[in-house]
Amino acid sequence: MTSLAAPNVVNVHDLRRLARARLPDAVFDYLDGAADDEVTLQDSTRAFREVLFKPRFAVATPACDLGVTVLGHTLDLPFILAPIGYSRLMHPRGELAASKAAGKHGTAYILSTMSGHTIEDVKAQSNGPKFYQLYLAGGRDAAEAAIRRAKAAGYTALFVTIDTPVAGNRERDVRNGMKALMGTNPFAKLKYLPNILMHPRWLAAFLADGMTRPFPNIVVPGSGPLAAVDVAAALESAQVSWTDLKWIRDVWDGPIVMKGVMTADDARRSVDYGAQGIVVSTHAGRQLDGVAGSLRVLPGIVEAVGHQTEVLFDGGIRRGADVVRAMALGARACLLGRGYAYGMAAAGDAGVERAIEIFRADIVRTLKLLGAASIRDVNAEHVWHKPDFRVD
Ligand SMILES: Cc1cc2nc3c(=O)[nH]c(=O)nc-3n(C[C@H](O)[C@H](O)[C@H](O)COP(=O)(O)O)c2cc1C
Repeated sequence: MTSLAAPNVVNVHDLRRLARARLPDAVFDYLDGAADDEVTLQDSTRAFREVLFKPRFAVATPACDLGVTVLGHTLDLPFILAPIGYSRLMHPRGELAASKAAGKHGTAYILSTMSGHTIEDVKAQSNGPKFYQLYLAGGRDAAEAAIRRAKAAGYTALFVTIDTPVAGNRERDVRNGMKALMGTNPFAKLKYLPNILMHPRWLAAFLADGMTRPFPNIVVPGSGPLAAVDVAAALESAQVSWTDLKWIRDVWDGPIVMKGVMTADDARRSVDYGAQGIVVSTHAGRQLDGVAGSLRVLPGIVEAVGHQTEVLFDGGIRRGADVVRAMALGARACLLGRGYAYGMAAAGDAGVERAIEIFRADIVRTLKLLGAASIRDVNAEHVWHKPDFRVD
């Protein structure tokens, strides 16, 4: 196996390179790609470059405290692992690897509705906090069954993703034949097989894992677990509205976090609805292309609701310094998406762990160079950006 140590793997871009080598194009592009012209994806990372640091030197920081509290949990790290659908397609251990590594490093994991492993198996991987990300795909009955299972298994918060009324237009997936590859017609897959055969390590693991399976946590009454190929249609027929959110509140009595908030209006609405948190997020640029990189809207949303609810942030984080920038602009904690998923896709458990270690080391170094002893001390005084950086 390829070494994950330096100098082979120095940063997340190296994990991305290894993931690209291991995965067939269809799977790598599913992970790496975004919607339409990928304008939002590009702006997500560009926005970080526009936030510059203002260090305070000659400050002693012998130890740096990275701890934060999120939804009542004390975490050792200021980032948690975001829900990534189809993780099991990238690596047989997928969601299990993420859950285990998060727990081992003292942080939380958010399990996607689109998981290939069961709610229970993922929870059993570690004692760290687990949150469940909810789509209504499969309808209210399927969602209610999943919510009850999550509750029984010990998940402590529900992240309701509100930015997916329809699957985004991911053109890389269309070109790579993702739909045909997920389907049951073997002839439709033929065109895409040569590229898959060029990735024997991935293919052997995929075959040994039983190939594409239905989603074990979307159990539609009367018809069983939802097939992967039916997901797009299921999402479209089960769009979340504010009425559903009232219903979710009746079924789940724990904290609810709205994921996919991009305006102060939706943030205020989430607070009115009683959300204990929101995630400022563009869904990795995979939904509405042309919205701003999420970092640009973060300051305005923090000003609007930061005193009333926990404002979490994700999108475009590729370095620990990006986590520090987002915290300086008011995030309570960040979610890593591709930042850990590249590692998972490259090397399962070891890859997620390597990604977490890289982010942790980056954050500690950045704090020391900034002259901050704790991540909680980082604030707007530590950064500078042009006035037109913000989108309100
Ligand atoms: C391959 C992939 C699958 C994703 N699946 C889900 C999902 O099932 N549910 C969800 O709420 N968000 C999903 N997201 C969005 C992530 O939770 C997170 O918001 C995003 O990845 C953060 O951006 P980043 O990848 O630039 O860090 C997915 C993102 C990617 C890249």
